[in-house]
Amino acid sequence: MQTPRATAEHSAAQTPPAAADQTPWWRDAVCYEIYVRSFADADGDGVGDMAGIEQRLPYLADLGIDAIWITPFYPSPQNDHGYDVADYCDVDPRFGTLADFDAMLARAHGLGIRVIIDVVPNHTSSEHAWFARALAAEPGSEERDRYVFRDGRGIDGSEPPNNWRSIFGGAAWTRADDTHGQPAQWYLHMFDATQPDLNWHNPEVGDEFEAILRFWLDRGVDGFRIDVAHGLFTPVDLADTATGDEASIFHQPEVHEVYRRWHRVLAEYDGDRMAVAEAWTDSPETTASYIRADELQQAFNFHWLLAEWSAEAFRDVVVQTLEAVGLVDASATWVLSNHDVVRHVTRYGGGETGLARGRAALLTMLALPGSSYLFQGEELGLEQVDVAPEHREDPAYFRGGSEGRDGCRVPLPWAGTQPPFDFGPGSGQPWLPQPAEWSALTVSAQSADPHSTLAFYRRALAMRREVNRGLDASVVLLDTAPGTLGFRRGDGLVCVINCGGQPARLPDEAGDVVLSSSPLDEPGTLPADTAAWFRAATATRPG
Ligand code: GLC
Repeated sequence: MQTPRATAEHSAAQTPPAAADQTPWWRDAVCYEIYVRSFADADGDGVGDMAGIEQRLPYLADLGIDAIWITPFYPSPQNDHGYDVADYCDVDPRFGTLADFDAMLARAHGLGIRVIIDVVPNHTSSEHAWFARALAAEPGSEERDRYVFRDGRGIDGSEPPNNWRSIFGGAAWTRADDTHGQPAQWYLHMFDATQPDLNWHNPEVGDEFEAILRFWLDRGVDGFRIDVAHGLFTPVDLADTATGDEASIFHQPEVHEVYRRWHRVLAEYDGDRMAVAEAWTDSPETTASYIRADELQQAFNFHWLLAEWSAEAFRDVVVQTLEAVGLVDASATWVLSNHDVVRHVTRYGGGETGLARGRAALLTMLALPGSSYLFQGEELGLEQVDVAPEHREDPAYFRGGSEGRDGCRVPLPWAGTQPPFDFGPGSGQPWLPQPAEWSALTVSAQSADPHSTLAFYRRALAMRREVNRGLDASVVLLDTAPGTLGFRRGDGLVCVINCGGQPARLPDEAGDVVLSSSPLDEPGTLPADTAAWFRAATATRPG
């Protein structure tokens, strides 16, 4: 769909096969996020696992995605469900073994699905061997220099070294005991106290992460999702900041040198290996700074996810995103949901309205150039679940930093009429309870219904492959009715979304309907909360 960059540095993919035009696969892929503990449970312990993923890969191939991103499955005390890594080069026994991972990877590749795994470089678990050694060592030691240990302020050093706040709530510092059990130095953790921040100024840390990347690249992974990619470095003076929050602490310039190094590592391997940054930024321009030609391949476009339900908001994000990625010759990404945010059907108002809007937003992002990231369960139209306090597990909830993320992480309903909905074998219940109403939303129930959200996702993904073929990356905004956003892709496809409360007149450029997110009852009109694809009325058709 896009012409290869003149400067493309990657060689062709071997497994799965490269696109005929040599465009790196990730530039227009649809990638499906698997939250490992909530996707599919093969061994019946109520927690998803590698074998569960492997068994359900045919479902994903049938859905029509190109790649999966699997959240952390490494040995971990699971205080932040795997984002607290104790060993970066193994599989947690809860999720299986390295052999299970290899089998899953081989099966995915056999089905033409690429595999992206999560790398967590900002912090380790407090149960990582490095941290245990740091705690056992003296202040100023080499062992402590892999993390950020400092003396406290105030009488007896009993106040944290500065005013920084953890993103999960509370102070970003915890006081450790000395080797005699007395309160002593503090260590930095921008997340939970069990997630000590690494000191990326220490060269040993960079070397270790290069080795970790190579470990998994050698096993055949296609890419990495980089957790908190903007956070690795913090200001060396550790000065108080005006607000104490991460906005003034993250995005330090040194981080880009790390990604230049990672770019060189990825380029040594065949198959267009890639990395996508989880970088929360204040603008598409800052996001683009992570995807310059010699840095990372992609960054999540959270501006799309954060946009409110309004044609103006969507238009602004589209324009700014395409401008920003154009400046660095990168490809755009689009995402509506992930394991950290309220599911988009709920954000858009919930119920029938939220669902209609969610389908419309999906169709719009799939029409835009670049790649799209889906979150497991959105293809079923799942909403955020109101998880009872006694079932909560998210550290951000307990530290008061957010209303909690458990509600988007409830295990998927696959089949059957009551929980566990075939999430695992037998009647054992999953780690978070599933709502009884999900009986109508299981994969099995929706597969039997041509009007279901799942059927719609399958059609949209299949159609995207078909219509995208041959379209260039250009986007022309159309002059459309108030409350709507319309654009033409290349000279072949027109997409219009109606965020206004009323049916809206379609623009003249909208020719034959290709696909719509809700039925189009009246010719020439787009109902509220609906998006549709049309053949461009002025299209120059080949032949
Ligand atoms: C990222 C992850 C989130 C995790 C945090 C700390 O934002 O997506 O789930 O809690 O990093 O690793």
